[in-house]
Amino acid sequence: MNKISIGQSELMASQISLGIMRMNALSVEEAKTVIETAISEGIDHFDHADIYGKGASETIFGQAFKKLGISRDSVILQTKTGIVPGIMYDFSKEHIIQSVEESLTRLQTDYVDTLLLHRPDALIEPEEVAEAFDELEKSGKVRTFGVSNHNPLQIELLKKFVNQPLIINQLQLSLTHTPMIDAGLNVNRTEAGSVLHEGQLIDYSRINDMTIQPWSPFQSGNGKKGLFFDHPDYLELNKVVNEMAKEKGVAREAIAIAWLLRHPAKMQPIVGTMNPDRIKAITKTTEISLSREEWYKLYLSGGKMLP
Ligand SMILES: NC(=O)c1ccc[n+]([C@@H]2O[C@H](COP(=O)([O-])OP(=O)(O)OC[C@H]3O[C@@H](n4cnc5c(N)ncnc54)[C@H](OP(=O)(O)O)[C@@H]3O)[C@@H](O)[C@H]2O)c1
Repeated sequence: MNKISIGQSELMASQISLGIMRMNALSVEEAKTVIETAISEGIDHFDHADIYGKGASETIFGQAFKKLGISRDSVILQTKTGIVPGIMYDFSKEHIIQSVEESLTRLQTDYVDTLLLHRPDALIEPEEVAEAFDELEKSGKVRTFGVSNHNPLQIELLKKFVNQPLIINQLQLSLTHTPMIDAGLNVNRTEAGSVLHEGQLIDYSRINDMTIQPWSPFQSGNGKKGLFFDHPDYLELNKVVNEMAKEKGVAREAIAIAWLLRHPAKMQPIVGTMNPDRIKAITKTTEISLSREEWYKLYLSGGKMLP
């Protein structure tokens, strides 16, 4: 498994991260197997959030990790704050600090390597975020900071007040959810793909050395539910993915991740499987690479067009 540096920080992490959102469905014994498999396959980066499984995902991970006896500093733990499910988004100082403290308790650790602001809060007061970040950094509870689902101007606003570099933007991106790529290919045109839904996220991230972490890399996205594998709306894409997988001797999951890794922005996809065999199949991604032609062929087979 290749390692990449995360943003402008000193953090070096596996190029693929394991998302822990769905770990709440597992027993501690099952979680141990998942974590052990991920680590033996070279994954050392785990993505959490305070809200996953209403906290149960962090709790089960924390218990399983402790039982495995793995040293804390051999892995990178990232969590998120700012969503109060179904009620509001909350970037107040009090909420950020309390949520991190609760995550640390559930994860059974003294610090997280990275804290992300999960989704933009319409009522953000960046001065409060700055105070929370300073306090969390000073106390050693959080080492680095970033955002998720933020657009470039929202990040600029934060940067005006926050003292720490923002090293990550975690964003939805898969072969079938590509607005940030579509917009860059359809400049000054009238097609739906030309709409700058979120500003020029990829260019902004590259200019500012922020690592994009694509979330839900196998999900349909674009308002559709479920995986894009075998989805009737993506017959051509599935045909191309399956052919490429056969040709390269890897699973189709590896092709979907290789498409994200081929982008020169040096992204770090967050995969969410809790199935050890799938984890092994996905990590084979780093043994292959896609040509420019193959990257475009996959993009276009998902139903996109070039201007
Ligand atoms: N920042 C955000 O707003 C945000 C939002 C959503 C997610 N996330 C992060 O992204 C991570 C990944 O999200 P995700 O779980 O939706 O992503 P995903 O990796 O696209 O999907 C994984 C899900 O698909 C299932 N699946 C079924 N067949 C599969 C196959 N052939 N290959 C791969 N998966 C298959 C998995 O089930 P099995 O477990 O049975 O394999 C699992 O339930 C989350 O854990 C979380 O850390 C972030």
